[in-house]
Parts: sequence; C-alpha cells; structure tokens
Amino acid sequence: MSAAWTPDSWTRAEARQLPDYPDPAALRAATDTLRAYPPLVFAGEARNLTADLARVERGEAFLLQGGDCAESFAEFHPDNIRDTFRVILQMAVVLTFASKLPVVKLGRMAGQFAKPRSAGTETVGGVEMPSYRGDNVNDITPTLTARAPDPERMIRAYSQSAATLNLLRAFAQGGYANLHQVHRWTHDFLGQSPWGRKYRETADRIGEALEFMRACGIDPETVPQLAQTQFYTSHEALLLPYEQAMSRRDSLTNDWYDTSAHFLWIGDRTRFEGSAHVEFLRGVGNPIGVKCGPSLDPDLLLRLLGTLNPARVPGRVTLITRYGHDKVEAHLPRLIRAITRAGHPVVWSCDPMHGNTIQSASGYKTRPFDRILHEVRAFFAVHRAEGTHAGGIHAEMTGRNVTECTGGAVDVTDQSLADRYHTHCDPRLNAGQSLELAFLLAEMLNAEMAERRKVAA
Ligand code: PEP
Ligand code: CO
Repeated sequence: MSAAWTPDSWTRAEARQLPDYPDPAALRAATDTLRAYPPLVFAGEARNLTADLARVERGEAFLLQGGDCAESFAEFHPDNIRDTFRVILQMAVVLTFASKLPVVKLGRMAGQFAKPRSAGTETVGGVEMPSYRGDNVNDITPTLTARAPDPERMIRAYSQSAATLNLLRAFAQGGYANLHQVHRWTHDFLGQSPWGRKYRETADRIGEALEFMRACGIDPETVPQLAQTQFYTSHEALLLPYEQAMSRRDSLTNDWYDTSAHFLWIGDRTRFEGSAHVEFLRGVGNPIGVKCGPSLDPDLLLRLLGTLNPARVPGRVTLITRYGHDKVEAHLPRLIRAITRAGHPVVWSCDPMHGNTIQSASGYKTRPFDRILHEVRAFFAVHRAEGTHAGGIHAEMTGRNVTECTGGAVDVTDQSLADRYHTHCDPRLNAGQSLELAFLLAEMLNAEMAERRKVAA
C-alpha cells in the first residue's frame, strides 16, 4: 500500500463488492450532496469509543454489538428502533449484573445498509439481474429496473440513518435508558417464557439494589449515569463512495474520520491484501473491526494489522471471528497465538451468526440456535485456554418477535420459519433468543471473572 492516504486513495486499489453505477454523473451528484451534509457522528465520540474498546481489550469491559443484518427502507419505524434498542439494553443489564463488567453498547444500526454478496448477479424467473446489495444500492424486488444501482438511494440511507441516530440518542440520554426503568424494557411477547421470567428476576434484584442505593442518597439526581447510557453505532464500511463522502477532517486533531458511524468494519469478503476497503479504513481515525473467517491466514492478518494499526493504538482494532460451530476450535487458537506473539492490541469478539447459516428443508436461509450457542461456548473456552479475554459478541438480532433462526426456548421450528420471516438479508435472533444468548454469555463471563479472581488470589 502506498504511504499517502487520501479519502479517495482506495479508488486506486482493488475494490470488490461495489456496485457498477450506470450513470457516473448521478453518482457524483449524490456524493457531492452528501459531502455538504452534516456529519452523523463527531470525531470525539469515535475517540471515546476507542477508549471504551481499549478497556475491553484490558479485560475491564465487554463489547455487545448487535442489530439488523441489513436495515431497510421498508422496515423503518420508530417501534423497530425502540425494540432493538431495548433488547440490547436488556442484554447489557443481564451481562453487567452477572459479570460486574461494564458493557460497551454498539448497534448495527443507523447505517447498516450495504451487503456483500456471494455472486454479482442472480437469475430469477429466467432473467439474469444484479444481486440485491442493500437498500442504499438497489431495491430487493427481483426486476431489472428495481435492481439497477441508484446513487440517490445513498441520500435516503443518510436521512434514515440521521433519524435513527437521533432517536437512539434520545432513548440513550432522554430517560428511556434510566436503570430505574429496568422492568419496563420487557417485551410483552416474552410473557411467561423462561427467559422472560429470568429477566424479571434479574430486574427485581437490580430494583432492590437501586432502592438500597436511593436510601443511601445515590439516585439519578445525584448520579446522572444511572439515568443515561452511552450507545454507539456501527456498520460494514462496504459502499466506499458513501463512506468517502461522509469523511471529514476533525478540526481538533486535523485527522480524518468517517462520520457515518462511530465504528466501521471490513467484511470477510473485502479484507484481502491490497483491498480498497482496507486502504480506505486505514486512513480514518474511527475504531474499526475486521471480520475473520476460516480462510484468513494468520500471517495475512498480521500484515493487515500492520497496515490498519501501525501505531498499535489500544482499542483501534476489534477482530470479529466468525468460523462456524464446527470450525472455531480448529482455527481460533492459531489466530490468537499469532496475534499474542506479535503483541498486537486487539479486542476479540465473536460473531456466531455468519459461519452458521444453512438452508432449511422448507427453503429458508436460517441459523440453528444451538449451533450459535455452540460457537459462543467454544469461543469462550478457547480464550480461557489461551489466557485471553473473550471480549465481545457480534450478533444479527432484532427486538421483534420474528421467526428466522430455528430453536431457542420458545422453539422456532423449520415449519414455523414462514410465520414471521422478515429479514432483508440474513436470519436474525428474535428478542427471546437474544435474551437467552445474553444469559449464556453472562454465565461464561462470570466463569472467566471467577477464574481471573482465583489466579489473582
Ligand atoms: C455481516 O456482518 O453482515 C457479514 C456479511 O459478515 P461477514 O463479512 O463476516 O460474512
Ligand atoms: Co449478515
């Protein structure tokens, strides 16, 4: 890679997974418009997240990253945003209560609109057409017109991201996230499910602790942190014309930041050597993620880290491993050893979704919940054996009661997938499955903490 980085230096590198816009003038017009729009996040917020992630790296916090596989224009509704936000809050409460570790909350929200695809085109009803690449590129309807990449969609994605982020900021800071509301975050449909009940028990105990603290004079009036939370946003930095147009120079440090989200990641299909996506992200100051799948060679990853984080800034890089339930034990130890030996600071996060996608007998793309839990358990076990902190989870999930992944306490079966299968791309955990995952994570984290206390004693 060349030494000189500019917001457009990626255009001289190999770019995979980008749409072919038929009209360059329309593309220029759209990116010019975006360049004149306000940033969605500030550089200082991105730096705060880097500092929070450095805490995760040191084993002093846990990262919870979750949200839609793909946000869509059609599902844009305040209730959807609220439901996902509150299931993330619920998961964070369960995790913090069990492990006593603070949780860094990072939504796959307010900008997660672009999707990498295994093939550039698909044939529907005998017609070959461009694959759907996310709502900021083209429309999911399988017609030639709908699938033509349209740069105007970037403007709509920007607006939806701005409105989503505005609501998230209001929820996080305007009282909804007040810990005293912990009982109200329950979803009606969790009702009498085992995890709904278990959550209520946790909420009761937190309520008691809060009452005790109030009696001691500690309440949201005296300690504002109890009434607010910090919530960050993230998406895959895939659509580079959009990300470039959203990049701004920070007036305080003079460094470049991608102001479309606090955290950006590089997907498993675009993290190859010489990639335009790596070239773009190496130059922005945001904390970044790298997806690590079975085909990633540890030596390549070390070279990538040399490019993406030459100064070895703690919190700058999160490695999101996504091997699949049957491959994680074979691959993860090698990767951990290579990184540890080289002394690169990284956050280790587990994406138990993308390596566990299968085609159901009924024809739906799904993910068996038991395979997801298996990958999570293996991730924790490997990190425990290697003496590294199992730092985070990266999940495709929604606060809605969808039927997209099979299994879980309220069993979603192959037959019931059709009931509420709404995703625009990959199958997501529903609210009940997300909570169930949180209780498993809590147990694993708790064990890690107990072990650490034992070693320290
Ligand atoms: C994703 O996170 O939606 C994704 C496409 O993941 P990966 O790059 O790991 O396949
Ligand atoms: Co996905």
